[in-house]
Amino acid sequence: MTDLQQTDPNRNDHDDLVTRIRQLDYEYYVLNESSLPDAEYDRLMQKLISIEAAHPEWVRDDSPTQRVGGQPQAGFTQVQHEVPMLSLDNAFSDEDLAAFYKRLQDRMNTTDALELACEPKLDGIAISLLYEDGRLVRGATRGDGTTGEDITANVRTIRSIPLSLRGDGWPKVLEVRGEIYMPRQGFERMNAQALEQGEKVFVNPRNAASGSLRQLDPQLTAKRPLEMCCYSVGRVEGGSLPETHYDTLNALAGWGLKINDESRVVTGLDDMLAYYQRMLGRRDDLTYEIDGIVYKINRFQLQQRLGFVSRAPRWAIARKFPAQEEMTRLLDVEFQVGRTGALTPVARLEPVFVGGVTVSNATLHNMDEVERIGVHIGDTVIVRRAGDVIPQVVRVVDDQRPVDAKAVELPAACPVCGSAVERVEGEAVSRCTGGIHCDAQRREALKHFVSRRALDIEGLGEKLIDTLLEKGLLHTPGDLFELTADQLVELDRMGEKSANNVINAIDAAKQTTLPRFLYALGIREVGVTTAANLAQHFGGLEKLWSATEETLLEVDDVGPKVAAHVRHFFEEPNNRLEIERLVGLGLTWPDPAPASGSMPLSGQTWVVTGKLEALSRDEAKDYLQRLGAKVAGSVSAKTSQLVAGPGAGSKLKKATDLDVPVMDEAAFLDVLREHRLWQ
Ligand code: IVH
Repeated sequence: MTDLQQTDPNRNDHDDLVTRIRQLDYEYYVLNESSLPDAEYDRLMQKLISIEAAHPEWVRDDSPTQRVGGQPQAGFTQVQHEVPMLSLDNAFSDEDLAAFYKRLQDRMNTTDALELACEPKLDGIAISLLYEDGRLVRGATRGDGTTGEDITANVRTIRSIPLSLRGDGWPKVLEVRGEIYMPRQGFERMNAQALEQGEKVFVNPRNAASGSLRQLDPQLTAKRPLEMCCYSVGRVEGGSLPETHYDTLNALAGWGLKINDESRVVTGLDDMLAYYQRMLGRRDDLTYEIDGIVYKINRFQLQQRLGFVSRAPRWAIARKFPAQEEMTRLLDVEFQVGRTGALTPVARLEPVFVGGVTVSNATLHNMDEVERIGVHIGDTVIVRRAGDVIPQVVRVVDDQRPVDAKAVELPAACPVCGSAVERVEGEAVSRCTGGIHCDAQRREALKHFVSRRALDIEGLGEKLIDTLLEKGLLHTPGDLFELTADQLVELDRMGEKSANNVINAIDAAKQTTLPRFLYALGIREVGVTTAANLAQHFGGLEKLWSATEETLLEVDDVGPKVAAHVRHFFEEPNNRLEIERLVGLGLTWPDPAPASGSMPLSGQTWVVTGKLEALSRDEAKDYLQRLGAKVAGSVSAKTSQLVAGPGAGSKLKKATDLDVPVMDEAAFLDVLREHRLWQ
């Protein structure tokens, strides 16, 4: 390799440097592999810039220094697409796709299974790139399919687009088509920055990509995180391409163009549907937005035979995904009070169909988030519902704010009990200070007390708790254990049998475990794992009850904040009284064996992930703790063992990377059998 530091470079040094930077760009922007620290890359680029400053006669327009042009343009000139840029017909259901497939078979007069290429439908802007003699000479928008706009200067700034093709074998004239899009992360970052600087935010990555390409000043486009992925060809002269779409994509990749690595060839309708389902399931894991799947007959000869109608080919179709983002109006913001008093702003929306369901409420998380997105009541907002995630208000459509829009204000008093609301310095949440006197907090605390991972009282659902609260039969957890079947029978829709079932379930819940009991108390920031660690560390309630913050800090997973919450909880006389009352009413648990070096898995840290068949993950954790293991939520180099069921994802990968031993459920059950915890 040439010494790049030498002061008097020759032409070869220059060409080597151009080749080197081009290779690095290709690895980074097309293959998504980074092989060099940024600083080193920058150093090489600076070197090239200075060589070219000294020798302008060496500068070719496909040098990496020539991506961003000089002067802003006055406007875009029009270009004609010799081969029209078609659009696609849509399929909105499996039935639509089956009908498309049937039409293909009918037209081709066959019942044989057909071969189709499947690929993600990227949500961006269709672009044509023209390469002559391997050099990029023109970039154009699709426009109306026949006439587009020349955006060469902007396209050149996108580093996943090669200014000259790699390798050889490319046709003399090659028009490549694809989608320019903005990956999610870049979009979020750009919008966050715009918001900070009081600039307009983009509604979605597609609009952001479109807006970025329409800049007359390529310097601005260059700053936008755009990418291009190629999915077809237009004009081809002076050379030939493979016989199928899929092989052509691979040829394009060989010439340094970016293609989508999710593309596949499938045979038959069932596999087409399976590809759709698989990609739908992975939609949220992709780094870019897709709005469906495009299916294309793979063999060009068959594509030609099928031809096209008006603007869309007969040989291709787009199967659309359900929209994940929709626009609607924010009618009001109400504040919900949670178990710990936290006030959560909830958006009341004009109902909108998004992500497969009708949404009329969405979370706004907290006041920081309300400020971050700058939402006002009356605004038109973008609501997102992706997968099973609860609906969220993600953005405001700035230019549609009505004149009478109202700012969202945190109430000074709790909307349920009227107690003062406090916002702790440095925390995003605001809380009602009413504690157990606040009906909302009481209700949530009781729901928590009986929930599955706490005392697990079956048949005591949300509705029954509400009724009991209304009738004044229930105030604190202890009241549950004083309820009688006669009282329950009096309630609406409660037969004798159900009443007895509830009373029996309450009775059965008296035999519990210390971790469950501690978790049920609802001490702030004490989840299932911390509760188990506290129980194991102290071995009994009395020691925990009188533990100092210092001793609490010795417990795994307990930091100063949790220690303070625990201390605070046990110092509160009402809490002590309630615990004593519960014990008096018959709540008992076996004292867990204190942690000692003599237990089978003492000193080990285990992690459980994925789906288990024979037992729940919580049960698995219970067993592990009984064997003396510490159970952690994430894998690290300190993890002794990972138990992984089907569906295990990032934790399994991390364990493999870190050489942490992994066992499946069957092996785990063997461990339990060995210790007589499993039959
Ligand atoms: S093929 C004749 N493949 O979808 C075929 N289009 O609704 C023309 N698009 O204008 C397009 N991903 O902007 C094709 N993998 C893909 C695509 C794709 C996104 C866009 C493209 C096109 C629009 C048609």
